[in-house]
Amino acid sequence: MKSVLEFKARKASGPKISMVSAYTHWEARFLADSPVDCILVGDSLAVVIDGEPQTFSATVEIMARHTRAVVRGAGGKLVIADFPFLAARKGVPAAVDCAAELLRAGAHAVKVEGVDGHEDVLGHLVGSGVPVIGHLGLTPQSIHAFGGYKVQGRGGEGAAELIRQARAIESAGCFGLVLECVPANVAAEVTAAVGIPTIGIGAGPDTDGQVLVFHDLLGLNPGFGARFVRHFADGGTVVNAGLAAFAHAVAKGDYPAKKESY
Ligand code: KIV
Repeated sequence: MKSVLEFKARKASGPKISMVSAYTHWEARFLADSPVDCILVGDSLAVVIDGEPQTFSATVEIMARHTRAVVRGAGGKLVIADFPFLAARKGVPAAVDCAAELLRAGAHAVKVEGVDGHEDVLGHLVGSGVPVIGHLGLTPQSIHAFGGYKVQGRGGEGAAELIRQARAIESAGCFGLVLECVPANVAAEVTAAVGIPTIGIGAGPDTDGQVLVFHDLLGLNPGFGARFVRHFADGGTVVNAGLAAFAHAVAKGDYPAKKESY
């Protein structure tokens, strides 16, 4: 997938959209050669790459640096870059500066968490030619307000509130919406209520697409085991076996062999 126009068209035409959060040139090269549709340079890089407990430490500068690296490996695939913590809350000029950095780094679009109180920012970015995808549900930049990593949008009121916010995101002109950790029936209702594609993570099977983190889906993040994560490969075992084989070969003097020497 090369553009947000293709992304939007999938709501009506299918197939469902696959998105992967990735942070480095190396990961992007694998994704470029895969059938995965698009890449999110998520601020989850603070947790996955830097080992931080939350996403807050990702700055515009860090996001731009990783975006540049990913775009260089992505082979022209649609790359979306995350707005970091509070970048949409400092008003329109600061948000424009952030979007400029991310698009100059090569992103085709940006993702912004939440909507209430920064509808004007979303609308201004879209009106300025910057495609924006929204993000609702368990938005990690608000975990302190949520009291931790908890499923959002439960119950009739929760669902109605999520639908209201999703419609506000659509009205602001966003081209899509990520729904994170909401009950499957609520995600299905939101998906039916809006005309833009929804991408779920921990949001059940009835969204218009799914996103997972590169390391999680490949089994490369052994300490992390949320219910929604499926290991589509046992990467951790492969890596551990490779590292052990290298160490043993070095210890025994089996590596390098003659043909591996000059
Ligand atoms: O930062 C991220 O990778 C994300 C996805 C998990 C949706 O926001």
